[in-house]
Amino acid sequence: PLPPVEASKRRAAYKAVEDHFDVSYKYIGIGSGSTVVYVVEAIAAKGRDITSKMIFIPTGDQSKQLIIEAGLPLGGIDSLPPVDSTYTKMDGVSALEVATGVTDLGLKGMRQCLDVAFDGADEIDEDLNCIKGGGACLFQEKLVATAARKFVCVADSRKLQPRLLTKWKAIPIEIAPLAAPTIKRILITLGSPDPVIRQGGSAKAGPVVTDNGMWIMDAPFPPLLLPSDLKDGHKGDGEHGIWEVHQLGRRLKRIVGVLEVGLFYGRNGIQVANAGEEGGGQKP
Ligand code: A5P
Repeated sequence: PLPPVEASKRRAAYKAVEDHFDVSYKYIGIGSGSTVVYVVEAIAAKGRDITSKMIFIPTGDQSKQLIIEAGLPLGGIDSLPPVDSTYTKMDGVSALEVATGVTDLGLKGMRQCLDVAFDGADEIDEDLNCIKGGGACLFQEKLVATAARKFVCVADSRKLQPRLLTKWKAIPIEIAPLAAPTIKRILITLGSPDPVIRQGGSAKAGPVVTDNGMWIMDAPFPPLLLPSDLKDGHKGDGEHGIWEVHQLGRRLKRIVGVLEVGLFYGRNGIQVANAGEEGGGQKP
């Protein structure tokens, strides 16, 4: 049997697919990380009669491999047909046994061409904003998520926290290597005490290189406020190093050399229902 956390991820993944995968869908985004492995398993279990008519869009090399190994038809975010659709308000969401969200990621006006994107997250707050990039994929994840009508975030209950940066301590930022020293200095002035370039571990010394040839800067910040926290004159604009999540996301994105920020924020029409106690919920 799977260890409890893995079993929880798997249950969440099967429930997400049950609730948010439709046989009429054509284009489906597949995120990165260990939870998404179970999402792909659950989709593949639907059978080739259904999946062979669809196209699956990866968010990096890992998910590309997952899609191929599961025998699902592979596409690319850069080779999708154009669409005429305008902004569609996000669907509501039914929660998994744990935490799942559908967020609009500030999509207004974007041409959305995927029916749905499934992905994991490192931490999720009460508004269903997420930190992503723990596995060094984030730019392609955001590219796919923002091209999808519906973004379904699949996570086990450890990841749901009142505010971002409660347990997860740093925001992953995908950056151009050449800009690393400048970006580090700017991050410090914005209140991040010790931003570090993520290192590759034992296999190869030196920075982790992303699927896009970039580096990851992990920037610690104190827990991020939600818009609803902004009262008593607090603007959430980084004064004393305290930021509101949207404002920090926008500020970080403005730094030259930042490809993408591992903050996925902005929501619209989200509903969350508690699907029961941990360990409960639907089993595959
Ligand atoms: C990859 O960089 C991430 O954004 C992942 O989606 C996130 O780290 C969640 O991964 P796990 O499902 O492995 O926790």
